[in-house]
Amino acid sequence: MERTLSIIKPDAVAKGVIGKILDRFESNGLRIAATRKLELSRKDAEAFYAIHSERPFFNDLVDFMTSGPVVVSVLEGEEAMQKNRDLMGATNPQEAAAGTIRADFAENIDANAVHGSDSVENAAIEISFFFADRDIS
Ligand code: CMP
Repeated sequence: MERTLSIIKPDAVAKGVIGKILDRFESNGLRIAATRKLELSRKDAEAFYAIHSERPFFNDLVDFMTSGPVVVSVLEGEEAMQKNRDLMGATNPQEAAAGTIRADFAENIDANAVHGSDSVENAAIEISFFFADRDIS
């Protein structure tokens, strides 16, 4: 059994589609092992996305991720990391396949509705950023 981290981003939270997105996970064999709504501080967002700190979009990304509440979840299931990425679709919603979360709920590459860990190793790091072991069941 594998675990991955999902973030429902401020655009999707503001649109009122938290439940619809969580349903995509549960309907496709991903169990929600933990979930929490919170607001990221600037320091949190900069630390979470530190890997992108040299990229030209970093400041816009931090601005966007601190613009409103997010929902962070631990998803669990067989090949959970890849399954979540398949459900999300391409990072740029214009390139996301029909029926994916980003095709259905996202506006553009910044406001792209969801984040998902991009490797099993990063999933463990990202999960521990938000959740203690006792929060996950
Ligand atoms: P996410 O999966 O959360 O990881 C980093 C985010 O940066 C990405 O989704 C996008 O929302 C955002 N971003 C903005 N511009 C780019 C870009 N050119 N390439 C990748 N990610 C980008």
